[in-house]
Amino acid sequence: MSLMKAAEAPTHQRPLEIALPAPGDALEQDEEWVVVNTATGWRKIRLHDYGDVYAVPGLYERWVYDIFRCASPAKISELLSRALAESATTPESLSVLDLGAGNGCVADTLQDLGIETFIGVDIYEEAAEAAERDRPGLYTDYIIGDLTALHDEGRGILDRHAVNCLTCVAALGFGDIPPEVFAAAFNEIEVDGWVAFTIKEDFLSTADDSGFSRLIRRMLAEDALELVARETYVHRVSTDGQELIYEALIGRKRADVPTIQIR
Ligand SMILES: C[S@@+](CC[C@H](N)C(=O)[O-])C[C@H]1O[C@@H](n2cnc3c(N)ncnc32)[C@H](O)[C@@H]1O
Repeated sequence: MSLMKAAEAPTHQRPLEIALPAPGDALEQDEEWVVVNTATGWRKIRLHDYGDVYAVPGLYERWVYDIFRCASPAKISELLSRALAESATTPESLSVLDLGAGNGCVADTLQDLGIETFIGVDIYEEAAEAAERDRPGLYTDYIIGDLTALHDEGRGILDRHAVNCLTCVAALGFGDIPPEVFAAAFNEIEVDGWVAFTIKEDFLSTADDSGFSRLIRRMLAEDALELVARETYVHRVSTDGQELIYEALIGRKRADVPTIQIR
């Protein structure tokens, strides 16, 4: 194991001590873990147990951004910024539905473009709590729940906001957001609204059986999604230092996508 101290970490209350598995351990993306020195002692936490990750202040940023060098929010911000400028759309006119919002790293980056309204959605209550703890006031509203079975409070929030941009960064697949939830979020966006998301390139190959490849191809073929920009990039490195290749896509929603028979 290698021990890392985070004396320079920006948002921490105190420096975090974390230890990663030794390089060479080949872990699937949804198996990655660290041990972290918390107020109650050392704990092993799996990255995909997001509730546990967000409950430790600064752990997500230290692990995913400092150590894994995640570039996805910056990439989506760069491409969206360019697309908005080319279509003479002002960032202030966007009302963003941030799907898989976590503790707000994506909205934090996008607010630098001048976007002011963010509605977060996440399945974990700890994500909403961490967003308010780490970035108070960033989200106008935050829905905790499943968009395919939305509770009345969540429905009320979406009805109050005319959301015209969907962001979903580093959150599709791997037991995280399934195609059905992505489609439900897409259908919440106003027609002609913006869609900005990242996805592992494997999920877009025709061999993919998660349903994303079929959903995205169907969105494009049926003109529900008009692609504006698409770029292949390094999302982050894995625990054993391998580059994880993702695609960033920016588009305009032109119509709802049927949510039946997505897979
Ligand atoms: C890797 S994190 C990405 C967080 C943030 N978008 C970022 O880039 O920093 C994936 C997020 O998706 C959330 N998530 C997983 N399944 C979900 C679902 N069905 N609906 C909404 N959010 C979900 C997780 O709780 C987690 O916060």
